[in-house]
Amino acid sequence: MSKTKLENVKKLNLANLPTPVYRLERISEEWGVDLWIKRDDYTGAETSGNKIRKLEYTIAKALSEKAEVVITCGGIQSNHCRATAAVAAKVGIKSHLVLRIDEEPPVEGNYLLDKILGAEITFISRKDYSNRRGEIMAEIAKEYEAKGIKAYVIPEGASDGTGNFGYIEAVQEIVAQEKELGVNFDAIVCAVGSGGTYSGLFLGAKIYAPDKKVYGFNVCDDEEYFLNVCESIASDTVKALGSDIEVKREEMNIIDGYKGLGYAISKDEELLFITELARKEGVILDPVYTGKAFYGLYHELKKGRFSAHKHILFVHTGGLFGVFPKQEQFTKVL
Ligand SMILES: Cc1ncc(COP(=O)(O)O)c(C=O)c1O
Repeated sequence: MSKTKLENVKKLNLANLPTPVYRLERISEEWGVDLWIKRDDYTGAETSGNKIRKLEYTIAKALSEKAEVVITCGGIQSNHCRATAAVAAKVGIKSHLVLRIDEEPPVEGNYLLDKILGAEITFISRKDYSNRRGEIMAEIAKEYEAKGIKAYVIPEGASDGTGNFGYIEAVQEIVAQEKELGVNFDAIVCAVGSGGTYSGLFLGAKIYAPDKKVYGFNVCDDEEYFLNVCESIASDTVKALGSDIEVKREEMNIIDGYKGLGYAISKDEELLFITELARKEGVILDPVYTGKAFYGLYHELKKGRFSAHKHILFVHTGGLFGVFPKQEQFTKVL
């Protein structure tokens, strides 16, 4: 794929980039590995985390289509929804969030920030979220259009052929940082929630750094589900770029087995693990995504799955606000 093709895609510059990369000194010594971290939780404050990299492309596309409101969806504590609400406010358009709930939620964490940022909110049940969230967002878009307001629907996690560009570009950033730091990462590791970060890193590595293997730890669903999702997102991106790159799911590495009790449900030992890392390295992982992925990495390192790799880079994709709704459980394990 020609590099200029990616450079020609419309984007906004909203994230604080490049994000820092450094070695986790004490953990590396203790675990007997060379483990580094990329702080994509430093991409912004209101926009902290991975989603802003995707939204730089997604919102640029929405604005180019003259959108006045963006509609998207996620769980009640969705980082993606909070980041979308923040970016929408920043560029002067409205946001409408379709949030999955089981019961009336407490106003805390990301949901509190959604409200502060002025997002319009529609609650839907878990069942409707699984079966017809796309339809529901399309209906909301129609309602806006009927009032003469141009709407743009962003899929869950902005994980589509457009949002994907954000993590392809992140690989270019990593390659430039490697030169500055004098290290060559042979494994990149991230959490997988809706698949966009993984498929972006995967494609980016294929294009700009074929020496690297990209691993994703899924925090919901399973390996088969995410191989399908990531293959489909990556294929859409390749199509959008008019490239002839072949997306092969056999080259993808989704590591299943660490979603624990389920999406956004934490085991005490996972929270303890987050606490230990915080105290050793001053890095706070989130309980829903990065905490589970890093916990998975620890166990897979012990099992020898990464033994062929010399220098491993973990991408901290954010989620700090998700710590606060877990305050009771954290307090219990502290
Ligand atoms: C903090 C955090 N890390 C990782 C992920 C996973 O990224 P993706 O949805 O692109 O798979 C998400 C969102 O789902 C997230 O909010």
